[in-house]
Amino acid sequence: MRAFVVTDYAHPSKIPITQNAPEPKAGPGQVLVDVYSAGLNYFDLLQSQGKYQNQPPRPFVLGSELSGRISSNSPIPDGCPFRAGDRVFGAAQGAFGEKVAVAWQSLVPLPDNMTYDQGAGLYVTWPTSYEALVGRAELKAGEWVLVTASAGGVGIAAVQLAKALGAKVIAAAGSQEKIDVSIKQGGADYGVNYSKEGWQKEVLKLTGGKGVDVIYDPVGLIRDSLKCIAWKGRAIVVGFAAGEIEKLPLNLVLLKNIAITGIHWGAYTKNEPERVPVVWKELLELFSSGRVKPVVYPETFPLDRVADGLVAIEQRKTWGKVIAYVRESPQNKSKL
Ligand SMILES: NC(=O)c1ccc[n+]([C@@H]2O[C@H](COP(=O)([O-])OP(=O)(O)OC[C@H]3O[C@@H](n4cnc5c(N)ncnc54)[C@H](OP(=O)(O)O)[C@@H]3O)[C@@H](O)[C@H]2O)c1
Repeated sequence: MRAFVVTDYAHPSKIPITQNAPEPKAGPGQVLVDVYSAGLNYFDLLQSQGKYQNQPPRPFVLGSELSGRISSNSPIPDGCPFRAGDRVFGAAQGAFGEKVAVAWQSLVPLPDNMTYDQGAGLYVTWPTSYEALVGRAELKAGEWVLVTASAGGVGIAAVQLAKALGAKVIAAAGSQEKIDVSIKQGGADYGVNYSKEGWQKEVLKLTGGKGVDVIYDPVGLIRDSLKCIAWKGRAIVVGFAAGEIEKLPLNLVLLKNIAITGIHWGAYTKNEPERVPVVWKELLELFSSGRVKPVVYPETFPLDRVADGLVAIEQRKTWGKVIAYVRESPQNKSKL
Protein backbone atom coordinates (compact mmCIF):
# COMPACT_ATOMS: atom_id res chain seq x y z
CA MET A 1 0.00 0.00 0.00
CA ARG A 2 1.03 3.67 -0.33
CA ALA A 3 2.04 5.24 2.98
CA PHE A 4 4.16 7.97 4.55
CA VAL A 5 6.70 5.71 6.25
CA VAL A 6 9.29 7.12 8.67
CA THR A 7 12.35 4.86 8.62
CA ASP A 8 14.99 7.47 9.55
CA TYR A 9 13.95 10.53 11.55
CA ALA A 10 13.80 13.59 9.31
CA HIS A 11 11.72 16.64 8.53
CA PRO A 12 8.67 15.40 6.55
CA SER A 13 9.74 17.47 3.53
CA LYS A 14 12.77 15.14 3.26
CA ILE A 15 10.76 11.87 3.35
CA PRO A 16 9.32 10.40 0.12
CA ILE A 17 6.10 8.38 0.02
CA THR A 18 6.61 4.60 0.12
CA GLN A 19 4.68 2.88 -2.70
CA ASN A 20 4.79 -0.68 -1.38
CA ALA A 21 4.55 -0.46 2.42
CA PRO A 22 3.23 -3.62 4.10
CA GLU A 23 -0.47 -3.54 5.02
CA PRO A 24 -1.13 -3.37 8.78
CA LYS A 25 -2.50 -6.36 10.68
CA ALA A 26 -5.35 -5.85 13.16
CA GLY A 27 -4.41 -6.66 16.78
CA PRO A 28 -6.84 -7.62 19.56
CA GLY A 29 -9.80 -5.19 19.69
CA GLN A 30 -8.76 -3.57 16.40
CA VAL A 31 -10.43 -3.20 13.02
CA LEU A 32 -8.89 -2.39 9.65
CA VAL A 33 -9.93 0.88 8.03
CA ASP A 34 -9.51 1.96 4.40
CA VAL A 35 -8.33 5.53 4.93
CA TYR A 36 -9.91 8.14 2.65
CA SER A 37 -8.80 11.36 4.37
CA ALA A 38 -6.35 12.20 7.17
CA GLY A 39 -6.09 15.21 9.49
CA LEU A 40 -2.69 16.91 9.74
CA ASN A 41 -1.33 18.12 13.08
CA TYR A 42 1.69 20.06 14.26
CA PHE A 43 2.80 17.07 16.32
CA ASP A 44 3.18 15.00 13.09
CA LEU A 45 6.12 17.31 12.27
CA LEU A 46 7.67 16.55 15.65
CA GLN A 47 7.03 12.80 15.46
CA SER A 48 8.64 12.50 12.02
CA GLN A 49 11.81 14.08 13.48
CA GLY A 50 11.79 11.95 16.65
CA LYS A 51 10.95 14.95 18.84
CA TYR A 52 7.44 14.03 20.05
CA GLN A 53 6.47 12.64 23.47
CA ASN A 54 4.94 9.60 21.76
CA GLN A 55 7.35 7.88 19.33
CA PRO A 56 6.39 4.49 17.84
CA PRO A 57 9.21 2.06 17.01
CA ARG A 58 10.63 2.65 13.52
CA PRO A 59 9.71 2.14 10.78
CA PHE A 60 6.24 3.58 11.38
CA VAL A 61 3.53 5.25 9.34
CA LEU A 62 3.00 8.91 10.26
CA GLY A 63 -0.41 10.48 10.92
CA SER A 64 -2.98 10.07 13.65
CA GLU A 65 -6.38 11.46 12.60
CA LEU A 66 -8.44 9.80 9.87
CA SER A 67 -11.74 9.06 8.23
CA GLY A 68 -12.62 6.14 6.00
CA ARG A 69 -14.49 2.87 5.73
CA ILE A 70 -14.18 -0.39 7.65
CA SER A 71 -12.20 -2.62 5.25
CA SER A 72 -13.92 -5.58 3.59
CA ASN A 73 -11.28 -7.95 5.06
CA SER A 74 -11.43 -6.45 8.59
CA PRO A 75 -11.96 -8.68 11.61
CA ILE A 76 -14.92 -7.54 13.75
CA PRO A 77 -13.98 -7.93 17.45
CA ASP A 78 -16.56 -8.89 20.08
CA GLY A 79 -18.72 -5.90 21.03
CA CYS A 80 -17.64 -3.84 17.99
CA PRO A 81 -20.73 -2.16 16.49
CA PHE A 82 -19.12 -1.52 13.08
CA ARG A 83 -19.43 -3.67 9.95
CA ALA A 84 -17.41 -3.80 6.72
CA GLY A 85 -18.15 -0.70 4.63
CA ASP A 86 -19.28 1.52 7.54
CA ARG A 87 -18.11 5.14 7.29
CA VAL A 88 -16.10 6.14 10.36
CA PHE A 89 -13.67 8.71 11.72
CA GLY A 90 -11.21 8.46 14.58
CA ALA A 91 -7.60 8.25 15.62
CA ALA A 92 -4.77 5.76 15.24
CA GLN A 93 -1.07 5.85 14.51
CA GLY A 94 -0.62 5.39 10.76
CA ALA A 95 -3.32 7.64 9.33
CA PHE A 96 -1.09 8.67 6.40
CA GLY A 97 -1.43 5.26 4.75
CA GLU A 98 -4.08 3.60 2.60
CA LYS A 99 -5.00 1.18 5.37
CA VAL A 100 -4.67 1.41 9.16
CA ALA A 101 -5.40 -0.81 12.17
CA VAL A 102 -7.54 1.03 14.74
CA ALA A 103 -8.96 0.12 18.16
CA TRP A 104 -12.70 0.12 17.42
CA GLN A 105 -13.33 2.23 20.56
CA SER A 106 -11.30 4.99 18.89
CA LEU A 107 -13.78 5.23 16.02
CA VAL A 108 -17.06 7.16 15.71
CA PRO A 109 -19.68 6.78 12.94
CA LEU A 110 -19.21 9.51 10.32
CA PRO A 111 -22.47 11.51 10.12
CA ASP A 112 -24.29 11.15 6.79
CA ASN A 113 -24.11 14.87 6.09
CA MET A 114 -20.32 14.90 6.35
CA THR A 115 -17.58 14.28 3.79
CA TYR A 116 -14.44 12.28 4.54
CA ASP A 117 -12.41 15.51 4.44
CA GLN A 118 -14.66 17.07 7.08
CA GLY A 119 -14.65 13.92 9.23
CA ALA A 120 -10.88 13.44 9.22
CA GLY A 121 -10.18 16.36 11.55
CA LEU A 122 -12.93 15.93 14.13
CA TYR A 123 -11.75 13.35 16.59
CA VAL A 124 -9.46 15.50 18.75
CA THR A 125 -10.46 19.11 18.16
CA TRP A 126 -14.22 19.08 18.65
CA PRO A 127 -14.52 17.13 21.92
CA THR A 128 -11.61 19.17 23.32
CA SER A 129 -13.42 22.43 22.62
CA TYR A 130 -16.82 21.12 23.72
CA GLU A 131 -15.60 19.73 27.04
CA ALA A 132 -13.46 22.83 27.66
CA LEU A 133 -16.44 25.15 27.31
CA VAL A 134 -19.18 22.96 28.76
CA GLY A 135 -17.48 20.62 31.24
CA ARG A 136 -14.68 22.87 32.48
CA ALA A 137 -15.79 26.51 32.11
CA GLU A 138 -19.53 25.75 32.48
CA LEU A 139 -20.32 28.35 29.85
CA LYS A 140 -23.82 29.82 30.04
CA ALA A 141 -25.95 31.39 27.32
CA GLY A 142 -25.46 35.16 27.16
CA GLU A 143 -21.89 35.10 28.48
CA TRP A 144 -18.92 36.67 26.67
CA VAL A 145 -16.20 34.30 25.40
CA LEU A 146 -12.76 35.20 24.06
CA VAL A 147 -11.19 32.52 21.80
CA THR A 148 -7.49 32.91 20.96
CA ALA A 149 -6.11 31.38 17.70
CA SER A 150 -9.77 31.52 16.76
CA ALA A 151 -9.24 30.30 13.19
CA GLY A 152 -7.06 27.32 14.20
CA GLY A 153 -8.18 23.70 14.53
CA VAL A 154 -9.46 23.79 18.11
CA GLY A 155 -10.16 27.54 17.98
CA ILE A 156 -12.67 27.52 15.13
CA ALA A 157 -14.49 24.62 16.81
CA ALA A 158 -14.61 26.60 20.08
CA VAL A 159 -15.99 29.68 18.29
CA GLN A 160 -18.81 27.67 16.72
CA LEU A 161 -19.62 25.72 19.87
CA ALA A 162 -19.69 28.85 22.03
CA LYS A 163 -22.12 30.43 19.54
CA ALA A 164 -24.26 27.28 19.50
CA LEU A 165 -24.36 27.44 23.32
CA GLY A 166 -25.72 30.99 23.12
CA ALA A 167 -22.58 32.93 24.03
CA LYS A 168 -21.28 36.18 22.52
CA VAL A 169 -17.91 35.42 20.95
CA ILE A 170 -14.85 37.60 20.40
CA ALA A 171 -12.38 35.91 18.06
CA ALA A 172 -8.71 36.77 18.55
CA ALA A 173 -6.25 35.86 15.80
CA GLY A 174 -2.93 36.94 14.33
CA SER A 175 -4.12 38.33 10.99
CA GLN A 176 -7.14 40.00 9.39
CA GLU A 177 -7.57 36.95 7.11
CA LYS A 178 -7.92 34.66 10.13
CA ILE A 179 -10.29 37.10 11.87
CA ASP A 180 -12.45 37.07 8.73
CA VAL A 181 -12.49 33.24 8.73
CA SER A 182 -13.48 33.25 12.42
CA ILE A 183 -16.40 35.57 11.71
CA LYS A 184 -17.57 34.31 8.30
CA GLN A 185 -17.05 30.57 8.83
CA GLY A 186 -17.06 30.36 12.62
CA GLY A 187 -19.84 32.83 13.29
CA ALA A 188 -17.89 34.94 15.83
CA ASP A 189 -19.58 38.22 16.72
CA TYR A 190 -16.40 40.31 16.77
CA GLY A 191 -12.72 39.92 15.97
CA VAL A 192 -9.52 41.44 17.34
CA ASN A 193 -5.95 41.11 16.07
CA TYR A 194 -3.78 39.97 18.98
CA SER A 195 -0.58 40.76 17.16
CA LYS A 196 -1.40 44.44 17.76
CA GLU A 197 -0.41 46.08 21.03
CA GLY A 198 -3.34 46.91 23.32
CA TRP A 199 -5.86 44.47 21.76
CA GLN A 200 -7.28 43.81 25.22
CA LYS A 201 -8.64 47.39 25.32
CA GLU A 202 -10.71 46.58 22.23
CA VAL A 203 -12.13 43.53 24.03
CA LEU A 204 -12.99 45.66 27.08
CA LYS A 205 -14.71 48.19 24.83
CA LEU A 206 -16.72 45.50 23.05
CA THR A 207 -17.93 44.12 26.38
CA GLY A 208 -18.92 47.55 27.71
CA GLY A 209 -15.93 47.62 30.05
CA LYS A 210 -16.93 44.38 31.83
CA GLY A 211 -14.51 41.95 30.15
CA VAL A 212 -15.08 38.39 29.00
CA ASP A 213 -16.56 35.68 31.22
CA VAL A 214 -14.61 32.87 29.59
CA ILE A 215 -11.18 32.77 27.95
CA TYR A 216 -10.45 29.76 25.70
CA ASP A 217 -6.70 29.76 25.06
CA PRO A 218 -4.78 27.21 22.93
CA VAL A 219 -1.84 29.62 22.36
CA GLY A 220 -0.28 30.42 25.75
CA LEU A 221 -1.86 33.85 26.09
CA ILE A 222 -3.62 33.46 29.42
CA ARG A 223 -1.60 36.15 31.18
CA ASP A 224 -2.15 38.68 28.37
CA SER A 225 -5.85 37.80 28.16
CA LEU A 226 -6.42 38.31 31.89
CA LYS A 227 -6.20 42.06 31.15
CA CYS A 228 -9.71 41.74 29.75
CA ILE A 229 -11.35 39.08 31.95
CA ALA A 230 -14.55 39.79 33.87
CA TRP A 231 -15.12 39.43 37.64
CA LYS A 232 -15.62 35.70 38.35
CA GLY A 233 -14.27 34.89 34.86
CA ARG A 234 -12.92 31.45 33.94
CA ALA A 235 -9.79 30.99 31.82
CA ILE A 236 -9.22 27.63 30.13
CA VAL A 237 -5.67 26.43 29.44
CA VAL A 238 -5.99 24.45 26.18
CA GLY A 239 -2.49 24.48 24.73
CA PHE A 240 0.73 26.33 24.02
CA ALA A 241 0.80 26.79 20.23
CA ALA A 242 3.22 29.70 20.66
CA GLY A 243 5.76 27.17 21.88
CA GLU A 244 6.27 28.16 25.52
CA ILE A 245 4.57 26.86 28.64
CA GLU A 246 3.18 29.97 30.25
CA LYS A 247 3.87 30.86 33.88
CA LEU A 248 1.31 32.85 35.81
CA PRO A 249 1.67 34.88 39.03
CA LEU A 250 -1.17 33.54 41.18
CA ASN A 251 -1.89 36.92 42.75
CA LEU A 252 -3.68 37.72 39.46
CA VAL A 253 -6.10 34.86 40.10
CA LEU A 254 -6.85 36.24 43.56
CA LEU A 255 -7.04 39.92 42.63
CA LYS A 256 -9.32 39.35 39.67
CA ASN A 257 -11.47 36.81 41.55
CA ILE A 258 -11.22 34.31 38.70
CA ALA A 259 -10.69 30.61 38.09
CA ILE A 260 -8.06 29.01 35.86
CA THR A 261 -8.98 25.58 34.55
CA GLY A 262 -7.36 23.09 32.17
CA ILE A 263 -8.52 20.57 29.60
CA HIS A 264 -6.71 17.36 28.65
CA TRP A 265 -9.22 15.60 26.44
CA GLY A 266 -6.91 12.71 25.56
CA ALA A 267 -6.81 11.69 29.24
CA TYR A 268 -10.61 11.32 29.55
CA THR A 269 -10.48 7.77 28.13
CA LYS A 270 -8.38 6.77 31.14
CA ASN A 271 -9.77 9.01 33.88
CA GLU A 272 -13.41 9.59 32.98
CA PRO A 273 -14.36 7.15 30.20
CA GLU A 274 -18.09 7.53 30.91
CA ARG A 275 -17.91 11.20 29.84
CA VAL A 276 -16.56 10.41 26.34
CA PRO A 277 -19.78 8.98 24.78
CA VAL A 278 -21.82 11.77 26.42
CA VAL A 279 -19.68 14.42 24.72
CA TRP A 280 -19.81 12.60 21.37
CA LYS A 281 -23.60 12.18 21.55
CA GLU A 282 -24.02 15.91 22.08
CA LEU A 283 -21.52 16.75 19.34
CA LEU A 284 -23.07 14.36 16.81
CA GLU A 285 -26.47 15.97 17.48
CA LEU A 286 -24.96 19.41 16.86
CA PHE A 287 -23.31 18.21 13.61
CA SER A 288 -26.52 16.55 12.38
CA SER A 289 -28.53 19.68 13.14
CA GLY A 290 -26.09 21.72 11.02
CA ARG A 291 -25.63 24.21 13.89
CA VAL A 292 -21.89 23.56 13.82
CA LYS A 293 -19.79 22.53 10.82
CA PRO A 294 -16.17 21.40 10.46
CA VAL A 295 -13.97 23.93 8.71
CA VAL A 296 -11.48 22.45 6.24
CA TYR A 297 -8.55 24.53 4.95
CA PRO A 298 -9.30 25.12 1.25
CA GLU A 299 -6.13 23.47 -0.07
CA THR A 300 -6.29 19.73 0.54
CA PHE A 301 -3.22 17.64 -0.19
CA PRO A 302 -2.80 14.25 -1.91
CA LEU A 303 -0.89 11.67 0.11
CA ASP A 304 2.34 12.30 -1.81
CA ARG A 305 2.17 16.01 -0.85
CA VAL A 306 1.31 15.53 2.83
CA ALA A 307 4.63 17.20 3.71
CA ASP A 308 3.50 20.40 1.96
CA GLY A 309 0.45 20.50 4.23
CA LEU A 310 2.63 20.00 7.29
CA VAL A 311 4.99 22.77 6.18
CA ALA A 312 2.00 25.12 5.74
CA ILE A 313 1.03 24.37 9.38
CA GLU A 314 4.63 24.90 10.48
CA GLN A 315 4.65 28.30 8.75
CA ARG A 316 1.39 29.30 10.50
CA LYS A 317 -0.31 29.84 7.14
CA THR A 318 -3.32 27.60 7.64
CA TRP A 319 -6.69 27.84 9.30
CA GLY A 320 -9.34 25.25 10.15
CA LYS A 321 -8.18 21.65 9.76
CA VAL A 322 -5.58 20.81 7.14
CA ILE A 323 -6.54 17.59 5.36
CA ALA A 324 -4.79 15.08 3.11
CA TYR A 325 -6.81 12.86 0.81
CA VAL A 326 -5.30 9.41 0.96
CA ARG A 327 -7.71 7.87 -1.57
CA GLU A 328 -9.66 9.91 -4.05
CA SER A 329 -13.43 9.64 -3.89
CA PRO A 330 -16.23 12.12 -4.57
CA GLN A 331 -16.94 11.88 -0.85
CA ASN A 332 -13.52 13.26 0.14
CA LYS A 333 -14.19 16.80 -0.87
CA SER A 334 -15.71 19.37 1.37
CA LYS A 335 -18.07 20.35 -1.45
CA LEU A 336 -19.90 17.32 -2.78
N1 LIG B 1 -5.79 20.28 25.72
C1 LIG B 1 -6.13 19.41 24.79
O1 LIG B 1 -6.75 18.38 25.07
C2 LIG B 1 -5.76 19.73 23.37
C3 LIG B 1 -6.38 19.08 22.30
C4 LIG B 1 -6.03 19.46 20.99
C5 LIG B 1 -5.07 20.43 20.77
N2 LIG B 1 -4.47 21.03 21.86
C6 LIG B 1 -3.44 22.06 21.66
O2 LIG B 1 -4.02 23.24 21.16
C7 LIG B 1 -3.05 23.97 20.42
C8 LIG B 1 -3.65 24.38 19.08
O3 LIG B 1 -3.95 23.22 18.33
P1 LIG B 1 -4.63 23.36 16.88
O4 LIG B 1 -4.87 22.01 16.38
O5 LIG B 1 -5.75 24.33 16.94
O6 LIG B 1 -3.42 24.02 16.07
P2 LIG B 1 -3.45 24.85 14.71
O7 LIG B 1 -4.66 24.55 13.90
O8 LIG B 1 -2.12 24.64 14.09
O9 LIG B 1 -3.59 26.36 15.19
C9 LIG B 1 -2.63 26.95 16.01
C10 LIG B 1 -2.72 28.46 15.87
O10 LIG B 1 -2.02 29.05 16.96
C11 LIG B 1 -1.65 30.35 16.60
N3 LIG B 1 -0.28 30.67 17.00
C12 LIG B 1 0.06 31.68 17.81
N4 LIG B 1 1.37 31.74 17.98
C13 LIG B 1 1.91 30.74 17.23
C14 LIG B 1 3.23 30.32 16.98
N5 LIG B 1 4.28 30.91 17.54
N6 LIG B 1 3.41 29.25 16.16
C15 LIG B 1 2.36 28.61 15.61
N7 LIG B 1 1.07 28.99 15.81
C16 LIG B 1 0.85 30.05 16.62
C17 LIG B 1 -1.78 30.46 15.07
O11 LIG B 1 -2.92 31.27 14.79
P3 LIG B 1 -2.68 32.85 14.51
O12 LIG B 1 -1.86 32.93 13.28
O13 LIG B 1 -4.05 33.40 14.38
O14 LIG B 1 -1.96 33.38 15.72
C18 LIG B 1 -2.06 29.01 14.64
O15 LIG B 1 -2.87 28.96 13.50
C19 LIG B 1 -1.83 23.07 20.29
O16 LIG B 1 -0.86 23.49 21.21
C20 LIG B 1 -2.37 21.69 20.65
O17 LIG B 1 -1.37 20.88 21.21
C21 LIG B 1 -4.80 20.71 23.13
